[in-house]
Amino acid sequence: MGFPERRMRRLRRTETLRRMVRETRLSPDDFIYPLFVVPGQKVRTPIGAMPGQAQLSVDEAVKTAGEALKVGVPAVILFGIPDKKDALGTQAYSDQAPVQRAIRALKKEYGNDLCVITDVCLCEYTDHGHCGIVEKGEVLNDSTLELLAKEAVSHAKAGADMVAPSDMMDGRIGFIREELDEAGFEDLPIMAYSAKHASAFYGPFREAAESAPKFGDRRSYQMDSANAREAMSELLLDEEEGADILMIKPAGTNLDLIRMARDDFDLPLAAYQVSGEYSMLKAAAERGWLDHDRAMMESLIAIRRAGADLILTYFAIEASRLLKGR
Ligand code: PBG
Repeated sequence: MGFPERRMRRLRRTETLRRMVRETRLSPDDFIYPLFVVPGQKVRTPIGAMPGQAQLSVDEAVKTAGEALKVGVPAVILFGIPDKKDALGTQAYSDQAPVQRAIRALKKEYGNDLCVITDVCLCEYTDHGHCGIVEKGEVLNDSTLELLAKEAVSHAKAGADMVAPSDMMDGRIGFIREELDEAGFEDLPIMAYSAKHASAFYGPFREAAESAPKFGDRRSYQMDSANAREAMSELLLDEEEGADILMIKPAGTNLDLIRMARDDFDLPLAAYQVSGEYSMLKAAAERGWLDHDRAMMESLIAIRRAGADLILTYFAIEASRLLKGR
């Protein structure tokens, strides 16, 4: 049956009809809000390349997490910026570092209402800015696993609800799983940054987290963005090693991978709408080149439609406000 019997526009005529046949919906439940935690008190330092986002001291992070909760966002993911960095990233697994203190403060304030996830990586904590131990200019894999596991266990001890390794070392999910179990945290879920590309879109984040590598780049451990089959291998390995949630990152440039992953895997799937995706949209909106709210919602619904269950996004609060307003 074709035109004129079949008229696709019939169901687009009113907003009520459009609502009735809408295939994909967004909810604040889908969102995870990233927070950058710094030492100190009453610190709220705006991040230049990410309008609306700031580095927060623990007390301020508690306030902002409260705003997220108020609009229905169930989870935050914490990134830490320590006051001193060294070759082994020791602040990553220090009980007194910003992330560990933030976990305790957030759990104390919000209990189980807020899911506190932590990013497990070394790049914010090492003086060279790489995600692992560096020897003769190479990022070592196996010895890095020990430090990552120490960091994950330290987050768990502080009370984290979930850990999210983002380093892209081989075998880290299995190793961290074992070490968590050994320390008595067999019930703590792992969200694996499984397919993470070496992406230019992390640029603004590296300003936010002060984590740009001092030499070279991350291409020897993060994936080549040209590869999709390799991404599926990464997801499979993480599933086999015991990941509870798989993640693809960045989201907007990998909608095809999100769809492939949704079709091939049954674990919950997360996608990270990264800093560069956020900044591009903010910049264009600031210039009046894009309608901010519409572009934000369209970018998010596309990620959901591709198949992601969860979206890590700097828009979490703004988008949820808009959703609630409706
Ligand atoms: C840490 C990490 C990065 C991001 C999340 N975890 C930076 C990187 O790998 O360089 C990027 C997040 C973003 O751009 O919003 N390894």
